[in-house]
Amino acid sequence: HEADAFRTDLMTITRFVLNEQSKYPESRGDFSILLSNIVLGCKFVCSAVNKAGLAKLIGLAGETNVQAKNDPFQPEPALTNYLTSLILHIHSPFISSHRCLFLFQGEEQKKLDVLSNEVFVKAMVSSGRTCILVSEEDEEAIIVEPSKRGKYCVVFDPLDGSSNIDCGVSIGTIFGIYMIKDGDEARLEDVLQPGKNMLAAGYCMYGSSCTLVLSTGSGVNGFTLDPSLGEFILTHPDIKIPKKGKIYSVNEGNAKNWDGPTAKFVEKCKFPTDGSPAKSLRYIGSMVADVHRTLLYGGVFLYPADKKSPNGKLRVLYEVFPMSFLMEQAGGQSFTGKERALDLVPKKIHERSPIFLGSYDDVEEIKALYAAEE
Ligand code: AHG
Ligand code: MN
Ligand code: MN
Ligand code: MN
Repeated sequence: HEADAFRTDLMTITRFVLNEQSKYPESRGDFSILLSNIVLGCKFVCSAVNKAGLAKLIGLAGETNVQAKNDPFQPEPALTNYLTSLILHIHSPFISSHRCLFLFQGEEQKKLDVLSNEVFVKAMVSSGRTCILVSEEDEEAIIVEPSKRGKYCVVFDPLDGSSNIDCGVSIGTIFGIYMIKDGDEARLEDVLQPGKNMLAAGYCMYGSSCTLVLSTGSGVNGFTLDPSLGEFILTHPDIKIPKKGKIYSVNEGNAKNWDGPTAKFVEKCKFPTDGSPAKSLRYIGSMVADVHRTLLYGGVFLYPADKKSPNGKLRVLYEVFPMSFLMEQAGGQSFTGKERALDLVPKKIHERSPIFLGSYDDVEEIKALYAAEE
């Protein structure tokens, strides 16, 4: 048989979505076009993330902040020029070097989350398949101009885990897709739908490799970017989360402000009363990375309410809903402390909710503790 490395029946995300598409004969490929633009955005951000550290190091952006003058690590201009030429000749397979230039020169060095946001907004609008966009980086919803309008509403967090950018820890993009409620008019109500109305949701994680995890409502599939092809290849078909896990993931620094049920659940993770071994704590601080590990290894991720933030920290539309959608599609579940996360009906586009998601049995334990409190 052929060595795996050279398998010829590679399933790319594009082909995968087209196969899915063929299940709906009436569809005209709009969803595939939308998805291919989301994928393009992810490839661009992946390339920018991979180079951001380098650009920062060699100060390509021409930003000479005062402290940089006597910054011992500020390289000599000659080195900068050398590295600049090196960068521009590294021809990334999926973006041409002039794009690379755009990244590092021209306007001032853009913060990665601002750049990522611009890339996704432009990719969504130019797809001609969207009518309303909600981004964590834009205070107001973006209503697409009528000539470019389509039937989908996309909610997204262009760069999740921004506190981890400068230290090179995994970060990501999260997105969810709704269908517009009534064909011709784009209204805010179209993005204030419960998460259970989403047609699709996914995330892209920019880590040691670039992994895109997607569900279009019939299971969860993972794709890994092959930089030499510039294609996302199916590497994790039909992901199912283990029914129970050995890991809990929470910011223990907020423990003093937790409510009773959360405190009790975390206590049980550390000091089990049924003789089972204590769980391990894993917390990366990028939701995409913590959720990806939870999906593959099992366990539970929580960002609970606390006295300071009664609705927790994570945003309903473009963090809680997409991750909850994926968890349910993978056989897990997602709970807000009061109800099934996907049943929540958002009132505002940037509202927050507490979230407990992951292995089915683990979340059941949390639900029982909250029910006992009622
Ligand atoms: P973002 O960078 O998009 O603002 O999201 C950060 C979020 C999420 O990625 C992560 O789970 C959470 O912030 C971590 O918050 P704490 O640092 O308070 O634990
Ligand atoms: Mn985020
Ligand atoms: Mn973000
Ligand atoms: Mn943020």
